[in-house]
Amino acid sequence: MNTLDLANYGPVIPVIVIEKTEDAVPMAEALLEGGIRVLEVTLRTSCALQAIEAIAKNVPEAIVGAGTLRTKADATNAKIAGSQFAVSPGYTTSMGNVCKEIDLPLLPGVSTGSEVMMANDDGFNFLKLFPAVAVGGINLLKGFSGPFADIKFCPTGGISIQTAPDFLSLPNVPVCGGTWLTPKEHVVQKNWGEITKLAKEASSIKV
Ligand code: 3PG
Repeated sequence: MNTLDLANYGPVIPVIVIEKTEDAVPMAEALLEGGIRVLEVTLRTSCALQAIEAIAKNVPEAIVGAGTLRTKADATNAKIAGSQFAVSPGYTTSMGNVCKEIDLPLLPGVSTGSEVMMANDDGFNFLKLFPAVAVGGINLLKGFSGPFADIKFCPTGGISIQTAPDFLSLPNVPVCGGTWLTPKEHVVQKNWGEITKLAKEASSIKV
């Protein structure tokens, strides 16, 4: 898989934090019901890998990936759990290399021109802009479109249902990410219907 293909499934990739393994499958099903197939499960909780494994085994229509990869071990663990892609908040050549070695498509995070150059030099031309709003948001993406005209970005961090359309209207933004589709309060209450509603809203953004 080329990570840019992830943008073909819809305009928003939910950035998911799962605290209880039992929530993984119903949450994935709720998002799918709302038209969202690509799911980024962040490696920020002790059950994240089990959650990825549960989704990969039980929700075959989902395209599940691991987010928040920080170490080489994160990459190998994510692959073993069944991740089809991976996302990192920043970029190092060693992260790029391990993902290539184990055939795990990586969407690497960048926030500066130098990081764009480093990741691009290592063969990556679809990058996550993180934390998007904090580092300059729309204006930064417009600025990057000059020198990095051939690079596409998935901005993540500080985006909402209200601001996503503005990001998605930029020619260098085929998809964006965010946690707003899976608010903690809905997850704690297993309020899957509300998550489906948020997913429907996000998946029907016109780009
Ligand atoms: C993250 O990795 O935490 C994402 O960028 C999500 O940011 P958000 O909570 O602002 O959507």
